[in-house]
Amino acid sequence: MRGRLFWKILLGFWLTFIIMTQALWVTFTFYGNRHQSPETSIARRMVNLQMTSAASVLQSGGMPALNAMVADWSPDERRFFTVTPVAQPPTEEPVENAEAGRLPPKVVKWVMGADNQGYVLSYDLEGLRQEHRPAKRWRFLNIPDPFLWVGALGGLLFSAVLAWNLTRPMRQLRAGFERVALGDLAVRLFPAMRRRHDELSEVARDFDTMVERLELLVSAREQLLHDVSHELRSPLARLQLAIGLGRQNPDNVENSLQRIEHEAGRLDKMIGELLTLSRAESNCLPDEEYFDLYGLVDAVVNDARYEAQIPGVEIVLQASSGVEYTVKGNAELMRRAVENIIRNALRFSGHGQRVMVELTCVDQRLQIEVRDQGPGVEESKLSSIFDPFVRVKSALSGKGYGLGLAIARKVVLAHGGQVEAHNGEQGGLVIRLRVPRWVA
Ligand SMILES: Nc1ncnc2c1ncn2[C@@H]1O[C@H](COP(=O)(O)OP(=O)(O)OP(=O)(O)O)[C@@H](O)[C@H]1O
Ligand SMILES: [Mg+2]
Repeated sequence: MRGRLFWKILLGFWLTFIIMTQALWVTFTFYGNRHQSPETSIARRMVNLQMTSAASVLQSGGMPALNAMVADWSPDERRFFTVTPVAQPPTEEPVENAEAGRLPPKVVKWVMGADNQGYVLSYDLEGLRQEHRPAKRWRFLNIPDPFLWVGALGGLLFSAVLAWNLTRPMRQLRAGFERVALGDLAVRLFPAMRRRHDELSEVARDFDTMVERLELLVSAREQLLHDVSHELRSPLARLQLAIGLGRQNPDNVENSLQRIEHEAGRLDKMIGELLTLSRAESNCLPDEEYFDLYGLVDAVVNDARYEAQIPGVEIVLQASSGVEYTVKGNAELMRRAVENIIRNALRFSGHGQRVMVELTCVDQRLQIEVRDQGPGVEESKLSSIFDPFVRVKSALSGKGYGLGLAIARKVVLAHGGQVEAHNGEQGGLVIRLRVPRWVA
């Protein structure tokens, strides 16, 4: 059983078709009757001819001559012709109905015969007509059969094709939505509807885009979950190992406890970072909170400078003066983002090297650029360093979980900004982040 839309379209268009055929027929008959049909004028002439000759024969030869002439007529013609003797001529001459296109029911003529007797000649045209055109039967909607067939069958065919053509993609769309609702994200509709080239195929394309996006989101979530459980495993394994060692060797319990403390701290840090990562969604941003980006970066740089004393790295902060550095959003999240980037730069810098932090305003956006003189990142891996748990293998990348830049990117995106990384011209990595400046 097809859906209701199918029947609506089918019946709607079919009815329209039939009504149109009937309307056309009515119009056609109105126009058609204006003209006299050839049969009518031929019949009129024939009757006039017979009446005139009958009248003149009657006038000149009287009844016997007329009878002789009529005897020559075929019995068919004789049937409708009558002669009646009358005493007096009728006061009113019967007039032939001259209305165009229609034959009068009767043609009547008064004649004075040769025997001085008056006669009325009459020709029964109605009878003649009845003989040649049988009385009309009552018909459905007064449409002649061919019209009815063309209207009904043609209309039915047309509306069925139309209804099928419109409802088929609807059913395909519906099936697609059902499959997505059941969790099947591999469904694509555009290939099947590509050839329509209409709005419905555009709907199919949008549907495909939506499903692709959903698939991406779902697989990113799954990947993250997988990575998280994988990353949690190694510290947990080391914890268990330390406990086992402590049990085996009571003399070395202190050593094992230290290891346990260390691993627990790592786990705590990682879970904290994961929480930050999941909190940094735009819908978790406060409604009315503003902060001064310059103050924030300055504080982070000061903290980093303290740590930088040991490796002997110089951190330089440059900011264009006379700019309002107000940003709307969450200061704590933004601080973590900036801190992660500056700490990375610090970690990849060696003794005597310098980390540049530059704060500028580029077309209503505030830009922070962090540049170091370290080894940089291989070009092919540049785009992936912002993904969670991605660590590029190098001597210096040891302790982290690869969550720092993922947090930074999420925070910046949540604030309506962008972040990108490229290798500097004189080596080292450049991370550039932009957030919109708040304007009252
Ligand atoms: N300034 C840099 N110079 C060279 N490589 C870098 C730099 N910053 C990041 N990377 C590379 O990008 C990877 C991802 O960085 P990210 O900050 O996300 O992780 P992490 O620093 O290794 O760990 P976490 O920040 O979670 O402690 C790093 O492992 C490193 O290989
Ligand atoms: Mg990091």
